[in-house]
Amino acid sequence: MTTQQKKINAAKMALKRIKPGMCVGLGTGSTTNEFINLLGQEKQLLKTLRYASSSIQTETFAKKYSIICEDIDQFNQLDVTVDGADEVSRQGEMIKGGGGALLREKMLASISKDYLIIVDDTKMVDYLGDFPLPIEIMNFSPNTTINLLKKAFKAYHLDPEIILRVNSDSSSVITDGGNLILDCHCGQILDPNLLKKKIEEIPNVITSGFFLNMISSVFVGDEKGSTEVFFE
Ligand code: A5P
Repeated sequence: MTTQQKKINAAKMALKRIKPGMCVGLGTGSTTNEFINLLGQEKQLLKTLRYASSSIQTETFAKKYSIICEDIDQFNQLDVTVDGADEVSRQGEMIKGGGGALLREKMLASISKDYLIIVDDTKMVDYLGDFPLPIEIMNFSPNTTINLLKKAFKAYHLDPEIILRVNSDSSSVITDGGNLILDCHCGQILDPNLLKKKIEEIPNVITSGFFLNMISSVFVGDEKGSTEVFFE
């Protein structure tokens, strides 16, 4: 059983939650792409839906099934958003943004009635922090921002290495919104709620990869199929 097959198992379960006429948010990443591949086979259903996407990458991928994404401003609310994650704790806290789409992903999640996360079972963790926490910042003064972040982390007894995300040619990664990403190698994070607040108070920070208290359900794909984990 490959990890890809586990992702497909999770995506299959989420697909059952999509009903005719819904407004659907599409996340970003390889697991979401598996969801789009499955949705693409549902020719009748997909024509009845409206879509918003969390990235140019997803928007482009969806076009191969003639799924056309509208601007998020066209929606007051989405019925459901389906997205992947980098880490999900047993309490339903997440780290996202490995693919650099955290800001738009968080916008979609914020206007969705149901926020469904699809992951393979390796993404479920006892605590957050083994995956580097992405932080999206304005496109200026990354070094000063790193110093301010270090102080914020220190207050929570963390001393992460913080690295500006770069492309293979060493140029800075620029997000769809024109911003920079810092990756914070933290290790075990005991209280993400307090740390998130502290980080997001720094003026140059747009948002962090902490997605807390947002999930409706997680579909965890494994060898046998998929299990739904609910959150209040
Ligand atoms: C994109 O910015 C991330 O939040 C993704 O949702 C996350 O990286 C999951 O990607 P995979 O499904 O490829 O693991």
